[in-house]
Amino acid sequence: MATGLVRRAVSRVHSSPAAKLFCARAHASEPHAQHAEPKGRPESNLKTFQIYRWSPDDPKKPELRAYQINLKECGPMVLDALIKIKNEIDPTLTFRRSCREGICGSCAMNIDGCNGLACLTKIPSGSSNATITPLPHMFVIKDLVVDMTNFYNQYKSIEPWLKRKSPAPEQGKEIPQSKKDRAKLDGMYECILCACCSTSCPSYWWNPESYLGPAALLHANRWIMDSRDEYTKERLDAICDEFKLYRCHTILNCARACPKGLNPGKQIINIKQLQLAKGI
Ligand code: SF4
Ligand code: SF4
Ligand code: FES
Repeated sequence: MATGLVRRAVSRVHSSPAAKLFCARAHASEPHAQHAEPKGRPESNLKTFQIYRWSPDDPKKPELRAYQINLKECGPMVLDALIKIKNEIDPTLTFRRSCREGICGSCAMNIDGCNGLACLTKIPSGSSNATITPLPHMFVIKDLVVDMTNFYNQYKSIEPWLKRKSPAPEQGKEIPQSKKDRAKLDGMYECILCACCSTSCPSYWWNPESYLGPAALLHANRWIMDSRDEYTKERLDAICDEFKLYRCHTILNCARACPKGLNPGKQIINIKQLQLAKGI
């Protein structure tokens, strides 16, 4: 989808469904908190969730809507709370989820100011409200669901597959890799493409189309470091760019945000060092 075109159209064709779809960009400071707080002092096992709500079918501005649930009747994770709210209070609440065990990456969102997976994040303790918003600086499709088109296109652009110049091995034969070479992929192959890192990166916020962002660059390095791949130099050349790679200023928000404990910033440093070593 040509997101840039849709974005430009937003101000001019505000009433078209496509324009409405993209007219809300998620940011923690954007929503107008709805004053729907339950009155009185909540009992100790009651918890209020302030959840970002916006629908392309409703001309209202985004808002934070309050939902109160009894934690004794709910599982321990933020995703359990969202499912309970959707099942029992408001079926219109929209969010992505699938595996419920930190593998599919689809439940990434911002929980009390930090990006994370709702299925792996415990419901914050204490009596204060929990605030749930979409991944920052992404276009919102509805509620907590963001448009991942640009993110996936950037991933695709680094050609995340094995590329060889040698003739393919005979049918049924594998391309061997030593244990030592296989270990070089640790810290990268585990990525689940949840986008928590990229959407926590200030450089990505300001250059979402031209800077590849930490997730795509981590995957670029995953293929650069693969001993079976024969396009290492071409891969390094392709991303040696002031914007694609060098917008990274090693702030390392990405490493803090990654729910899988990966460090994309470290992989980006590796790419830069390899480019230097090869005189690229
Ligand atoms: S280290 Fe680079 S990719 Fe990671 S948050 Fe900082 S600027 Fe973004
Ligand atoms: S590096 Fe971590 S935060 Fe970034 S996309 Fe992969 S799993 Fe998600
Ligand atoms: S539901 Fe799959 S990672 Fe959370």
